[in-house]
Amino acid sequence: MNILVLGSGGREHAIAWALAKAPSTDELFVAPGNGGTAAIATNIASLDICDPEPLIGFCQDHDIRLVVVGPEAPLVAGVADGLREAGIAVFGPNKDAAQLEGSKSFSKEFMEAHDIPTAAYGRFDSCEDALAYVRAQGAPIVVKADGLAAGKGVVVAETVEDAEEAVRQCFDGAFGQAGAVVVIEECMVGPECSLLSFVSAGRSIPMVPAQDHKRAFDGDRGPNTGGMGAYSPVPCVTSMDYEAMVSIMAQAAAACVAGPEFGFDYRGTLYGGFMLTDEGPKIVEFNARFGDPETQVVLPRLESDLAAVMLAVAEGRPQDVELVWSDDCVVCVVLASEGYPGSYEKGKVILGIEEAETLEGVMVFHAGTALNRDGELVTSGGRVLNVVAKGRTFEEARERVYEACERIYFEGKQLRQDIAVRALA
Ligand code: AMP
Ligand code: GLY
Repeated sequence: MNILVLGSGGREHAIAWALAKAPSTDELFVAPGNGGTAAIATNIASLDICDPEPLIGFCQDHDIRLVVVGPEAPLVAGVADGLREAGIAVFGPNKDAAQLEGSKSFSKEFMEAHDIPTAAYGRFDSCEDALAYVRAQGAPIVVKADGLAAGKGVVVAETVEDAEEAVRQCFDGAFGQAGAVVVIEECMVGPECSLLSFVSAGRSIPMVPAQDHKRAFDGDRGPNTGGMGAYSPVPCVTSMDYEAMVSIMAQAAAACVAGPEFGFDYRGTLYGGFMLTDEGPKIVEFNARFGDPETQVVLPRLESDLAAVMLAVAEGRPQDVELVWSDDCVVCVVLASEGYPGSYEKGKVILGIEEAETLEGVMVFHAGTALNRDGELVTSGGRVLNVVAKGRTFEEARERVYEACERIYFEGKQLRQDIAVRALA
């Protein structure tokens, strides 16, 4: 079948890479794509991926059987709804279901209604009430803009003053409409772990756990980012933790088709962001899509035909989803632009990717890259490249990935040196 992938990040390059090698894939298109997807698929730069009408026309013209939605913005904009109404199979939830990610307060209400373990919280649309709640609860405490803020709308405040500052920032419009409502949460403690799951017709078929590194600098210091690296499997997850996470994802999947209030037919990846607390795993957040950069370490371990899996999910046939995983250790290191997650320059020439990819087990997924007028590969985003290596052990995977990172050059290259160190212990 012909497949169209929507998005332009490292996640979408990894999805396109896995689809390109799947036996069920015929022609593969990526809109808009990036410098990496151009090498394995046809990039379609001209389509607005948040507007279903032109997408429907493109699908009809190119005999597209399946559309895979990568990022959250088109999901929240209702692109899946429009395509489905036109009879096209879509991997990705409808607009109402995407609110599980698009609105933190909606997500918390969903969890509360279905007894899904998560942090206690309050929801505020007035700055004064939010400040009063912060003062009453004390620190540490977590302040979140309700809407989408590219992973940057959350502050884990160590002091009441920092929390107050975060509340004021939201209401002062730092995140636009996304911060008009603020969710304030109890601060949970424990290692974090993501479990992505294929969800269709009320069933959850879990993938393998992964761990993301959200802070900008080594030792988990600095501001939160979209993710500076990831690894899979996650050795600190006990079999009891894993069982509990699997059962929470099953509970969530079942809840996605149950009840009048939250009844929606979820078809796509549900991302469970967990914290492994002393009381067991609890949900930090749901995302309505694959994680970035978790996807870059999860999909290289998948041995099944991803195209067939995604079509079964999109068509509401969870019984047909069979997943086979390798027991490789996979590590992903993000090469970012200097200044990220703050402001950064673009257009820096990138060298050395081919040399990096000659190393055994190494793949480079592009995130923010583009070709300039001279046909040179240049930086075009905060997260530029995802360098991924497989190994039989984490020692081997880490050695390979950091050697590969050294072979790649662009001005201002910024990376964490401690990705997956925790997996070694
Ligand atoms: P989110 O965008 O909701 O995933 O939050 C980003 C990060 O903030 C999470 O990965 C956690 O590290 C941290 N965080 C969010 N909520 C909490 C919480 N209730 N307790 C502790 N840390 C949290
Ligand atoms: N890596 C975190 C996310 O995709 O939201």
